[in-house]
Amino acid sequence: MEPVYLDHNATTPAAPEVIEAMVPYLGELFGNASSVHAIGRDAKVALENAREQIAQFINCDPSELYFTSGGTESDNIAVLGAAYRYRRTKNHLIIGATEHHAVLEPAEHLAHSEGFKLDILPVDKEGQASASKLAELVTDKTALVSIMHANNETGSIQEIAPLAEAAHEKGSLFHTDAVQSIGKIKVDVKEMKVDMLSLTGHKIYGPKGTGALFIRQGIKLSPLFYGGSHEKKRRPGTENVPGVVGLAKALEIAGQQREADYKRLNELAGYFIDKMLGLIPDTSFNGSRTRRVPQTVNMSFRGVEGESVVLALDLKNIACSSGSACTSGVTAPSHVLTAMGVDNIDAQGAIRFSMGRVTTKEQLDYVLSVLPETIERLREMSPVYQQQKP
Ligand SMILES: Cc1ncc(COP(=O)(O)O)c(C=O)c1O
Repeated sequence: MEPVYLDHNATTPAAPEVIEAMVPYLGELFGNASSVHAIGRDAKVALENAREQIAQFINCDPSELYFTSGGTESDNIAVLGAAYRYRRTKNHLIIGATEHHAVLEPAEHLAHSEGFKLDILPVDKEGQASASKLAELVTDKTALVSIMHANNETGSIQEIAPLAEAAHEKGSLFHTDAVQSIGKIKVDVKEMKVDMLSLTGHKIYGPKGTGALFIRQGIKLSPLFYGGSHEKKRRPGTENVPGVVGLAKALEIAGQQREADYKRLNELAGYFIDKMLGLIPDTSFNGSRTRRVPQTVNMSFRGVEGESVVLALDLKNIACSSGSACTSGVTAPSHVLTAMGVDNIDAQGAIRFSMGRVTTKEQLDYVLSVLPETIERLREMSPVYQQQKP
């Protein structure tokens, strides 16, 4: 059996068309987009064409799109840049309870070391945040609200526009991390009413180390880096022309395939979830069956350690991931799942299967043929499961 890759939310391979589009800019069209000579101007043209194409994809003006090295950098520029810019008059931030560490950690840094007050907007058991709860938390001292579009562990989708409206009501900026939604569901910055939006290339068959931040016209941010006038001083540094060309190509393909991919993966996910629930006792699905990017399937196998399942499946040539983070040998349950009310035992036993363009029903059937006995074997060795057994 060929390896079964079910970790597309971690990263994807670059599509052949993406690689083909990038190659000339690694070689003969190697120019620095800031150089004034003809070789530089060719690179600049490629950069600006890509900017236009991506801007059209998310419905913004090209002047509102800034290239970065990916989702983490875009999130940091948004969160830290807004906080530092407004700190004299506004010292309050709100983030969602299930944010990625790329938003969570800069926000925590601002709270622990820079004197900001941080509020966490809770989510319900399907991972959904409420605009009315947000309205209760926002004040005229709120510099920024940051709530992600689709969650990386569960795929849960937030309805962003009402949340952005609640933030704007009190004069706060609103940022969303669209790293896991772009290319999979519609992302339109005007419909979503956001001031800033982060995206990355490597989750959508684009190159690693590429991304962008939409910053609405007129929004002011403090820069995090100094040293050049690239990207209008918001992200100085020689532009990654091949990467940006690849990012634009990846989004072009995603735009063409998005609806067909959604339908196919939604059907596969429904089949996979129902089978797992039917075949393996004490198993639960985490998240929303309907308001979710369908390629993400998060399941809890009660009484096992997620990491052990990942390693056991790896031996069977299956790649997936657990939501838990291992620090100093101690496995902490995922903050995303605990925020959704999943208890610690189920959160420890959570596995994320994330499908992609190459995923087939045959591959899922192979997983289904080895998973029940893998879980059973691990449960036989699990004191937690043995104690819990009815
Ligand atoms: C929701 C979300 N935000 C941000 C990131 C970070 O993106 P990058 O890997 O491009 O830095 C990830 C990557 O896993 C993600 O899933």
